[in-house]
Amino acid sequence: MTEGLPMVVAEPDLPDRVTIYEVGARDGLQNEEALVPTAVKAEFVRRLLDAGLPVVEATSFVHPKWVPQLADAAELMTGLVAELGDTARALPVLVPNQRGLDRALELGLRHVAVFASATETFASKNLNRTLDTQFEMFEPTIQQALAAGLDVRGYVSMCFGDPWEGPVALEQVVAVGKRLLDLGCHQLSLGDTIGVATAGHVKALIAAFDAAGVDQARLALHFHDTYGQALTNVHAGLQAGVTTFDASAGGLGGCPYAHSATGNLATEDLVWFLTGLGIEHGVDLRAVVDTSVWMAGHLGRPSPSAVVRALAQSPA
Ligand code: HMG
Ligand code: MG
Repeated sequence: MTEGLPMVVAEPDLPDRVTIYEVGARDGLQNEEALVPTAVKAEFVRRLLDAGLPVVEATSFVHPKWVPQLADAAELMTGLVAELGDTARALPVLVPNQRGLDRALELGLRHVAVFASATETFASKNLNRTLDTQFEMFEPTIQQALAAGLDVRGYVSMCFGDPWEGPVALEQVVAVGKRLLDLGCHQLSLGDTIGVATAGHVKALIAAFDAAGVDQARLALHFHDTYGQALTNVHAGLQAGVTTFDASAGGLGGCPYAHSATGNLATEDLVWFLTGLGIEHGVDLRAVVDTSVWMAGHLGRPSPSAVVRALAQSPA
């Protein structure tokens, strides 16, 4: 066993390789009470890239009054583009509407993500739209992004339960997801915004998409770890053939418009788990841990990740 890494024991019938889609700089920092200085955010993104994370979502071009934590999106991306060029232009950013897309296009960014709600109440609270009228925002935004040659990811929130509405029907999630794919999103990230998913539910939702003609290759899973089920849910996703998982360095995260949402699945927990299974991911675990410890210093609170806590105490 290598120091600081689990012993590798593979399990049959799991994918050989997965893509970790890092959301700490966006989903993580959007929910921090402290306003993190732009220069610290830039260093966070750089360190995550240096740690080998293949996709690092950087920020959101949303209304600055709705998410003040990310009001410096343009400043952050301008600085990163000046420093990193095309590497920074390839970092995905959230855009809810045409105004957000225009702001991303002005900086020459190449990857955007729209974010839909699977429920009526969250569409209203997060987007000031109804379940139906949210698409009036997304349709022209996605069309314009595709016409400009951009790559568009679609998120669906509240896929496994909603704090105001309770259980969410599989068909409702599939209907919202299909609409995003039909509009041209290349990938769909299924969000467990408040962390209530369990393994059977994950498999049932993937099967429901499959029955509707959506292959697992087009799905990503986005778990928050409120009830400690995120890794078990990843395992269920792997068994069902999903190969893209969202995670956040140090387990930062939540959603400012869903107060029962806690941190995302920690990238370090995911990396430890995948490493133990012998699944390739390309990420340097020690480098992510060091980054999370450094960021925890800026946020003034320790990381909730068990792997960060365990490794932060072990020698490098
Ligand atoms: P609205 O108030 O309905 O906006 O908000 P509007 O279209 O009526 O426009 C009102 C004013 O806002 C206008 O300015 C616009 O220009 C301006 P005025 O003409 O009055 O001077 N405006 C903007 N300014 C800057 N950037 C923009 C923008 N859009 C409009 N993009 C809106 C609608 C969607 C903008 C608002 O509801 C919003 O910003 N919501 C974002 C909420 C958010 O970011 N939530 C967190 C991300 S989702 C999440 O975390 C879940 C996820 O992780 C998956 C999971 O866990 O499930 C993805
Ligand atoms: Mg989220």
